[in-house]
Amino acid sequence: MVAIPKKPVLLTGASGGLGRVLTRNLAAMGWTLVLTDIVPFPDPVPEGCRFVKADLNDGVTILKLAEGCQMILHFGGVSTEKSFEEVMGPNLKGLYHIYEAARREKARVLFASSNHSIGFHERAEPLDADCQFMPDGYYGLSKAYGELMGRMYWFKHGVENVNVRIGSSFPEPVDARMLSTWLSYDDLTHLCVAATMAPVTESCVIWGASANSRTYWRSDDRAKLGWLPQDTADIYAGQLAGKLSGDPITEHYQGGGYTRMDYTREAPPPAKLFGG
Ligand SMILES: NC(=O)c1ccc[n+]([C@@H]2O[C@H](COP(=O)([O-])OP(=O)(O)OC[C@H]3O[C@@H](n4cnc5c(N)ncnc54)[C@H](O)[C@@H]3O)[C@@H](O)[C@H]2O)c1
Repeated sequence: MVAIPKKPVLLTGASGGLGRVLTRNLAAMGWTLVLTDIVPFPDPVPEGCRFVKADLNDGVTILKLAEGCQMILHFGGVSTEKSFEEVMGPNLKGLYHIYEAARREKARVLFASSNHSIGFHERAEPLDADCQFMPDGYYGLSKAYGELMGRMYWFKHGVENVNVRIGSSFPEPVDARMLSTWLSYDDLTHLCVAATMAPVTESCVIWGASANSRTYWRSDDRAKLGWLPQDTADIYAGQLAGKLSGDPITEHYQGGGYTRMDYTREAPPPAKLFGG
């Protein structure tokens, strides 16, 4: 029995990698989706869905798009490390528009957060979802801000939100780090369904990863959603375990290569890095 929301669901970032996957999978379940992105939707728009081109910076249009929606799956915005000026509009101001729309519609938000909000934690340190934010760049910083905005809107306005710290969501893992961080498209889709259909979520945090035995992450709020990942990167271990970057900073921290970008600090000595 497929769960179908009573009211439409707004999906931002619909033209992006994950947005296209979610559009295909959720539309196939019979969901009514309002799709939006700043670039045109590259696929045929599925039956029961409509696409509206919009900039997250345009608050009036975002409010209009959310009208009548019960859920906002927020996947739009800058999705990689960029300058502060580039991140600021879509990821800071745009998120405010999303939360104002949710507040007005009494809708719930799923925020596509990222492991880069906690990227400067060491890989050797298993984390619970209530760990400190340790952003590894302006992008990760915007995700930490997004999670905190969700917390504020929950406590102040009762807007429920599910903050998914996505690891690496791609068709398959492609390197050793992704043996820890990979989130399959099916697990992501079921997570979006669970976040939408759960009777109550309050403001919660989920590690967005499949059931990978090499995970860096422990407890989170998944019991609230009744979500359990079904896939695992473990089956790729034979081919990927040796696929390392060769860079000590990248390999030391959970955020991987993002921690290395624009890294101007004198590198800690190897003995300290690897506890030798
Ligand atoms: N794919 C992953 O492994 C991963 C990991 C961590 C977090 N995430 C998050 O998930 C979301 C989707 O990721 P993705 O891999 O599909 O990224 P993506 O870049 O393919 O998709 C993001 C979409 O947002 C749109 N966008 C950018 N600026 C916009 C603006 N001003 N107004 C409206 N739309 C705008 C882009 O056009 C793009 O289609 C992002 O928020 C990303 O940060 C993804």
